[in-house]
Amino acid sequence: MKKDIILVGASGRMGQEIEKIINSETEFRILYRVSSSFDNDAENRKSIQDIDLGGREPMVIDFSTAGIFGSVVNWCRENKVPLVSGTTGLSNEDFVNLENAGKTIPILWSSNMSVGINVLRKLISQLAVIKDFDFQVEDFHHNKKIDAPSGTAITLQNDLINVLDKDLPQVVSVRAGGIFGIHKINAVSNEEHIILEHRAMNRSVFANGAVFAAKWLKDKPAGCYSMMDALQ
Ligand SMILES: NC(=O)c1ccc[n+]([C@@H]2O[C@H](COP(=O)([O-])OP(=O)(O)OC[C@H]3O[C@@H](n4cnc5c(N)ncnc54)[C@H](OP(=O)(O)O)[C@@H]3O)[C@@H](O)[C@H]2O)c1
Repeated sequence: MKKDIILVGASGRMGQEIEKIINSETEFRILYRVSSSFDNDAENRKSIQDIDLGGREPMVIDFSTAGIFGSVVNWCRENKVPLVSGTTGLSNEDFVNLENAGKTIPILWSSNMSVGINVLRKLISQLAVIKDFDFQVEDFHHNKKIDAPSGTAITLQNDLINVLDKDLPQVVSVRAGGIFGIHKINAVSNEEHIILEHRAMNRSVFANGAVFAAKWLKDKPAGCYSMMDALQ
């Protein structure tokens, strides 16, 4: 039997990509779509709080906005529903809430659901040997993106700070046109310039990652997981 999915942010760029993937495969089906511009009807809800599960045991996939993230996490915790989320622009309070909810339900949050960025994150540990180089993280995204720096750039910056054990200059963010997502780590000495770069060539790379993450998470015990865990 197909596992029911509640898709939060269903009307958005990511939500629409995820729905296409779910509709083309056999493991999941959409139970409800949630977006603030929807009316409450058979398959749609304005808010996750409007959903009555009536004994069903779905999962939530959330790609929406930081403003409702806390309420999505709380609803999932109260209803014992596993959550996959890629929503970015989160506050420290959101991350504390996420950690706490992970004691009750399985949660996978990742600032970037692509395989490539998670491979790039693993490469960052190699940079410890050039700790004395100057480092600069850059992110380039489409001009509709709300948050800057991107969640991925913050993740890469934090990984670098941990590996290099030194402060780094602020991330440089460019918002232009329709760029799906480019992230660069520059490491520069007087004689060399290393660039680790990841380019998302479409939005479905993130959507496929999110559906992969949901398949991985669905039978996991309570806990806070990342895409790095799912890809091991
Ligand atoms: N982790 C990753 O791999 C990854 C990749 C790409 C994007 N993202 C992140 O995913 C999120 C969504 O990105 P996007 O490009 O799809 O954004 P988007 O096109 O702006 O979509 C946002 C969605 O959230 C819904 N929403 C906003 N406020 C709401 C509210 N108060 N109640 C219910 N629904 C609400 C919007 O619906 P209405 O318009 O109807 O309100 C819309 O469906 C962003 O945080 C983005 O940074 C993550």
